[in-house]
Amino acid sequence: RKIYLSADSAARALGADAVADAILTQAKARGEDITLIRTGTRGMIWLEPLIEMEVEGTRMAFGPVTPDDVSDLLGGTLASHGATEDIPYFALQTRRTFARCGVIDPLDLAAYEAHGGWAGLRRALGMSSADITKEVTDSGLRGRGGAGFPTGIKWDTVRQTEAAQKYIVCNADEGDSGTFADRMIIEGDPFSVIEGMIIAGLAVGATRGYVYLRSEYPDAIRVMRRAIAAAQQADILGASIMGHGPAFHMELRVGAGAYVCGEETSLLNSLEGKRGVVRAKPPLPALEGFLGRPTVVNNVISLATIPVIFERGAAEYAAHGIGKSRGTIPLQIAGNAKYGGLFEAAFGMTLGQIVEDIAGGTATGGKVKAVQVGGPLGAYFAPDKFNVPFGYEEFDGAGGLIGHAGIVVFDSAADMRQMARFAMEFCAVESCGKCTPCRIGAVRGIETIDRIAAGDTAATEILTDLCETMRDGSLCALGGFTPYPVMSALEQFPEDFHAKTEVIE
Ligand code: NAI
Ligand code: SF4
Repeated sequence: RKIYLSADSAARALGADAVADAILTQAKARGEDITLIRTGTRGMIWLEPLIEMEVEGTRMAFGPVTPDDVSDLLGGTLASHGATEDIPYFALQTRRTFARCGVIDPLDLAAYEAHGGWAGLRRALGMSSADITKEVTDSGLRGRGGAGFPTGIKWDTVRQTEAAQKYIVCNADEGDSGTFADRMIIEGDPFSVIEGMIIAGLAVGATRGYVYLRSEYPDAIRVMRRAIAAAQQADILGASIMGHGPAFHMELRVGAGAYVCGEETSLLNSLEGKRGVVRAKPPLPALEGFLGRPTVVNNVISLATIPVIFERGAAEYAAHGIGKSRGTIPLQIAGNAKYGGLFEAAFGMTLGQIVEDIAGGTATGGKVKAVQVGGPLGAYFAPDKFNVPFGYEEFDGAGGLIGHAGIVVFDSAADMRQMARFAMEFCAVESCGKCTPCRIGAVRGIETIDRIAAGDTAATEILTDLCETMRDGSLCALGGFTPYPVMSALEQFPEDFHAKTEVIE
C-alpha cells in the first residue's frame, strides 16, 4: 500500500513526523508492506498532518491525523474526507505553480519528470533567447515577490545588456509576515525553481545562478541543497544543461536574518559578503547587479512558474486572470482564519470571496474586523472594501498592494492602533539605516502614535504628515510602504486610536 504524508515544515510542526513513525512501526507489527512517501504539502494546513492513502489509483484524504489514529487508518476504519482532489478547498483551485507540490517526493527526479518536470526546459532549449524572453512576456507573468514588474521585460533588459558574465539570483528571503509560498514550493517542489532558473539563464545568457535563502528556513535549506546536488549529479546542471546546452552552475547561499535583505539591492550586497544595506537605484540590478554584472533577481514563485509556462504555453497561462494581472497567484491565508493554508487561484476573486468563502472567516468564530494583504507593509482592509478583486491595479486603486499575496485575518479583538504601532516598530527594528525618513521617521512614528493614544488629537495630523514624508522620501519599500498599514488603520478604524485601557469586544 502507498501512503503519502507531508514532510513540509508546517506539517512537521503539527506532528507529521510522529505520525510517520507510528505508521512505520504499526505496519511492521502487522506484517504489512507499506511504502510511505514523504511529500510537500497540498497546502491545506487546517488538515495537516494529512495522510493520503492510495485506493484503486485515487488518493483518499485523512486528517488531521494523530499517532493514535494510525491503527484505525491501517485497519480501514478511520473516516476519510474522500478523494483529496475533490475536497472543495482543493478542487476550487487552479493549480499551476503548485501542481506537483504535495503530490510527489520533492527530491525524486523520476517523479518530477513523470509529472511534467523538465518538459518546459526541453522546449526552451530549442528556442532562441529572444523567443524565450518573448514567451515570458506573452504569458503576462509579473514579479510575484510583490512589485509586480513584468518578468519578460526584466529578462529582456538583462538579455540585451552585453557582459562577459551574467547572473540569475533567486530571492528566497521570504520575510513578509503571513507568507509561506516560497518556503512551501522549495520544500515541496524544488526542481521547479531550478528549472525556472536554468530557463532564465538560457534567456539572458547567464551561466551562474544563486539561491539566496533565509536562515529561518532550515528545512527549505536542506531540501534545496539536496535538490541542487541531485540535479548536478543527473547532469541537468553543471558544465552543460542536460548534456547539450550551455553551462549553468548553481549555488545556495543562506542569509543571516534581516528583513531588508529581501530587498534586491541589499540582497546583492549580502550575497557579495557585504553588509545588507540598500543600494540606490539606478543602476538597476538588471544592468549592474551581482558583482556589478547584469543580474536577473526574481522571486521564488516567479521562477517556479516559468516551467509551467513553457510546458503549457504562454497563451494557456495568460488565459487566466483579470486586466493586467494574468495567470495564477498562490494566496497565503494566515492569521485568525478558519481554513489557513495555500490557495492557488486565477487573479480576480474578490477579497470577500477569499476571506469568507475560502478562508471560512475567523478561526475564533468572531466577526472579521480587517485583513492585512501583502505583508507587514501592506494595507488593512475592512469588510466594506471586500469587493475589491485580487489584482495588482485593482488593489492599488483601493489604496493597498497585493505584495507577495499574504492575507492575514483579524477578528474584532484586534486593536488597530496597536497594529499601526507594530508597523512603525517593525520598520524601526528592520531599517537598514541608510535614509533618514525611514531611520528616524519610524521611531518618531511610534512616539506619535503613543501621543495620539494619550489623547493628543493634534498628533494625528503629524502622523499623517510623517507618513507622507516616509512614503515619498524613503529609498526603498521598507520605509516607503510602512505608511500603508499605518494610514489604512488610522483612516478605517479611527476609534481604535483614542485613549483606552482595554479592548472591548
Ligand atoms: P521596484 O518597483 O523598485 O522594482 C521591481 C523590480 O523590477 C526590481 O527587480 C527592479 O530591479 C525591476 N525593474 C524596474 N524597472 C526595470 C527595468 N526597466 N528593467 C528591468 N528591471 C526593472 O520594487 P522593489 O523595491 O524591488 O520591491 C518592492 C516590493 O517588494 C513591494 O511591493 C513589496 O510588496 C515587496 N516585498 C516583498 C517581500 C517578500 O517577503 N516577498 C518583503 C518586502 C517587500
Ligand atoms: Fe534602508 Fe529604510 Fe531607507 Fe530602505 S527605507 S534604504 S530600509 S533606511
